[in-house]
Amino acid sequence: QPTLRQLAQARGIAFGSAVSQQQLAADTGYRDWAGAQLGLLVPETEFIWGHLQPSQLQGPNFDDTDQLVAFAESHGQQVRGHTLTWHTDLPSWLTRDVAAGVIGPEALKDLHRRHIESVVGRYRNRVSMWNVVNEPLAENGSLRTDAKTGFWALNASAPGDPQEYIRNAFHWAREADPDAKLYLNEYGAEWGSAKARGLYNLVKDLIAAGVPIDGIGFQTHAPVSSRLSGLEDTMRRFAALGLEVAITELDVRVPMLADSDELAQQAEVYGQAAKTCLSLAPACTSVTTWGFTDAHSWYPSSEFPSWGAATLLDASMNPKPAYHALSAVL
Ligand code: XIL
Repeated sequence: QPTLRQLAQARGIAFGSAVSQQQLAADTGYRDWAGAQLGLLVPETEFIWGHLQPSQLQGPNFDDTDQLVAFAESHGQQVRGHTLTWHTDLPSWLTRDVAAGVIGPEALKDLHRRHIESVVGRYRNRVSMWNVVNEPLAENGSLRTDAKTGFWALNASAPGDPQEYIRNAFHWAREADPDAKLYLNEYGAEWGSAKARGLYNLVKDLIAAGVPIDGIGFQTHAPVSSRLSGLEDTMRRFAALGLEVAITELDVRVPMLADSDELAQQAEVYGQAAKTCLSLAPACTSVTTWGFTDAHSWYPSSEFPSWGAATLLDASMNPKPAYHALSAVL
């Protein structure tokens, strides 16, 4: 029985998942499955600024990311770095000092640059793609500028130029590793939404400004009722700009405990996502799921707490219909 990794590779795309270093270290079943089935690893939280550098004075702590990248290398797997610029899980010292005016816009820009240089530079030629910017857009398609999530645009050093931090982030990442593929990653842009239109306009602006952007990641956290209609058209429009596209955080949430009809429907959606990427390959480079076992789901801590059975394997690591659907499509 070929692995998902082998099946995907034979079709010219990569199959991967978010993984947690803590689980890799603690759980043999989890580690073995990840080692065998995945061609691409995305550290689920380990690269996020607040996780890397909880203390300003001590600088970043690369223990977890070093181990995770070493695991990937020993299995010949690619790594997608997630993520260099996001409004969520920033270090608390950073948000506190920015709010207090202790760190002003120029100092923030400098910290942002040094963060990207140190992280991307450390894994140069080892982490082959980065989500340079994650979730920059509000639902209406404009950049986030609200008090809760607008950290980057609100603290921009150039007044009236809220895209500046995005351009900077891509330029700094390119300088730190000229060979890494640089992605902008977003959710809610998988169909013809206001956000998808905003994303398209943003990306056109970035390209026109000479920003080194290589690809767009569509997270694709889907409800079980979804048909993913629109995803293929949307991805095709971005590919037509000369960019790579990828499905970066696929999962299909279903209320617990799901019955067999719901699990079959979930399998359909997984299969549909893989078909969509295959139909756009090689412009679509990969399908990455957000976790692979219901034993470790992010949903219980999300806004959908009782929708945790979103992955390919049940909590005992047994393949669900979704796994079989994916392996049939790939
Ligand atoms: C989630 C992680 O899975 C959680 O462990 C963490 O506490 C919060 O973030 N979009 C993203 C991911 O880009 O980083 C999010 O991951 C899920 C939504």
